Amino acid sequence: MKTLYKKSCLNLSSFTKKEIIYLVKLSQLFKKKKERKMEKQYLKKINIALIFEKQSTRTRCAFEIAAYDQGANTTYLGPNDTHIGYKESIKDSAKVLGKLYDGIQYRGFSDRVLEDFNRYAKVPVWNGLTNTFHPTQILADLITIKETYPDVPLKKIKCAYVGDAQNNICNTLVEASNITGLQVNIVAPKLYWPKKNIFLKNDINTTQKNNIKYTENIQQGVQNVDFIYTDVWVSMGEKEERWEKKIHDLYPYQVNKKMLDMTNNPNIKILHCLPALHNKKSIVGLKICNKFNLNNGLEISSEVFNSHINLSFQQSENRLHSIKALLVSCLSKQKFF
Ligand code: CP
Ligand code: NVA
Repeated sequence: MKTLYKKSCLNLSSFTKKEIIYLVKLSQLFKKKKERKMEKQYLKKINIALIFEKQSTRTRCAFEIAAYDQGANTTYLGPNDTHIGYKESIKDSAKVLGKLYDGIQYRGFSDRVLEDFNRYAKVPVWNGLTNTFHPTQILADLITIKETYPDVPLKKIKCAYVGDAQNNICNTLVEASNITGLQVNIVAPKLYWPKKNIFLKNDINTTQKNNIKYTENIQQGVQNVDFIYTDVWVSMGEKEERWEKKIHDLYPYQVNKKMLDMTNNPNIKILHCLPALHNKKSIVGLKICNKFNLNNGLEISSEVFNSHINLSFQQSENRLHSIKALLVSCLSKQKFF
């Protein structure tokens, strides 16, 4: 395998299957080393810019801790902190940041902005979530899947994605499936199936792959799967008015006890990238549940979220280890396997 040194990650298709397997293994190695307090630092004197046009808990913290653990410095550039795109073009801002930093994380709306950062900064740029993709999340999820079934190859694992299948998480899961062979059932009303045009650039044919299946039928889609993955129905950047129609269309696709029974799998596990709207204990959860008179969560019911089969907190921890593997691979020449 060629080294990942100087590589950007605009989406998961930036990597080959071998590279993704390498990153998963390296993440697991870093996880072990950190647990044993035996971590070595490969990123001393490295500076990383963290651009966030949207909110974040996990991604920001994972990038900051990963960098800190590895001896690198970070600068957090929040939505209102800079001139980027407001008084200064993306191109000029990218050229400036590229002179000052060794790598740039970008979380925002448009892939075009991400691509412009990559084009003009001339240092590695990593996608920390755009409207279309969220590669560092799915990388972490592949670790969680491997931790659950260490000896089973990804192509033998079945995952149903239920709910809003047009968002960044589902799109990236489709990419992962295309690259690694992971079996993915998209289970959603047709109106919410992934838009094919976003995959064309990366040469992903979403219809002819027999490891990616599409269905509106919940029973057929979740039967005998190993994992059910879901995410919020209205993503960051979408208009609040979307809630009404989405709740109407997607409520039957809520991950709840009834759906678990349909899997016919006593070992079923749940994946959710978080944040999750499973109760009224957040401002948004309270507002939306009260407005639409819902008392047991939105995309996932409270009892399923709070059960031991929910792996979402393990996924969150794995964000740290996978982002660390990505940073070390792209910013140092060190090879591990
Ligand atoms: N899953 C995820 O990306 O979470 P944040 O929005 O908190 O970064
Ligand atoms: N689809 C969600 C993912 C959050 C991590 C969003 O974009 O808001």
